[in-house]
Amino acid sequence: MKRLHQFLREQHTSPELIELIDTLLVACKEVAYLLKQGALAGILGSAGAENIQGETQKKLDVLSNDLLKKTLLSCSLVKGIASEEEDFPVAGNPNGKYLVTFDPLDGSSNIDVNVSVGTIFSILQAPTDLAGDDESAFLQQGSKQVAAGYVLYGPSNILVMTTGKGTHMFTLANTGDFFLTRELVQVPVTTKEFAINMSNQRFWEHAMQSYVDDMLKGEEGPLAKRYNMRWVASMVAEVHRILTRGGIFMYPYDYREPKKPGKLRLMYEGNPMSFLIEQAGGLSTNAYTHIMGIQPKGIHERVAVVLGSKEEVNIALDYHRRLA
Ligand code: AHG
Ligand code: MN
Ligand code: MN
Ligand code: MN
Repeated sequence: MKRLHQFLREQHTSPELIELIDTLLVACKEVAYLLKQGALAGILGSAGAENIQGETQKKLDVLSNDLLKKTLLSCSLVKGIASEEEDFPVAGNPNGKYLVTFDPLDGSSNIDVNVSVGTIFSILQAPTDLAGDDESAFLQQGSKQVAAGYVLYGPSNILVMTTGKGTHMFTLANTGDFFLTRELVQVPVTTKEFAINMSNQRFWEHAMQSYVDDMLKGEEGPLAKRYNMRWVASMVAEVHRILTRGGIFMYPYDYREPKKPGKLRLMYEGNPMSFLIEQAGGLSTNAYTHIMGIQPKGIHERVAVVLGSKEEVNIALDYHRRLA
């Protein structure tokens, strides 16, 4: 079995980028250890504070955020970080080469019910002319990402990442090593499985309502397929399922908060997941255009997400072209 280091060196990944990924994974392994302890460490439940998203933070949102922030800012390669759980970016080494955005704990509403969660990260080149806590330094299109990935804390702890040379999966062993367990992952082109939070159906655009209605009509409907549905409420778990067996994941624009096109955040959910999916031959859009082509305007900017198996995402795009 090939270790992560050996694989990255064989891919001619720069020593600095390997060092940064290593540093980030030190924090993720610590998060994995905390999660395994759960209630025994008294770390479940709410932290009693609210983040800039308006969400009540879980203790583990805060713990994992503090771990990642401290560990990354101790690395001289990091010029700055931005996190779901930080109102503003935090500066690191002024001569650092990289910026890192992250969602320290994705799917945290699942923590107290012991369902899989994850850490999502995105690595960008740091502009030399902007400070590491200057928001505008981070506002780069997803197509500019140097690397992206997630660690899924589930029955296995699995790192899935890309540096732009395909999407690959590594499983964490008890030794603390990540071993390559799937190389050059390919998202199946077609699918019969969709993931969406149906309880928001009345808030969607007509095009999304029409598309999902037609999927629910099954073989007799215009899509002539018997679809199955999954919804884990952890984006990391949904994306991992789609990378593994195909599917389409949607968190669409909804009218609950017209100013915010959906719940997911562009910089540390939409962009990193889009990089992984498109490096694996899938498509990742906001129902109209590639997410990685969107010019960000703020580090906590929201984005509608329709991603997964290429053929199915194109069907969803077609509904939005015709019915928007
Ligand atoms: P986070 O826990 O980082 O705030 O993200 C949760 C996101 C995403 O992981 C998931 O797909 C979605 O929220 C679930 O939303 P609902 O709770 O509305 O289903
Ligand atoms: Mn959150
Ligand atoms: Mn999240
Ligand atoms: Mn989160």
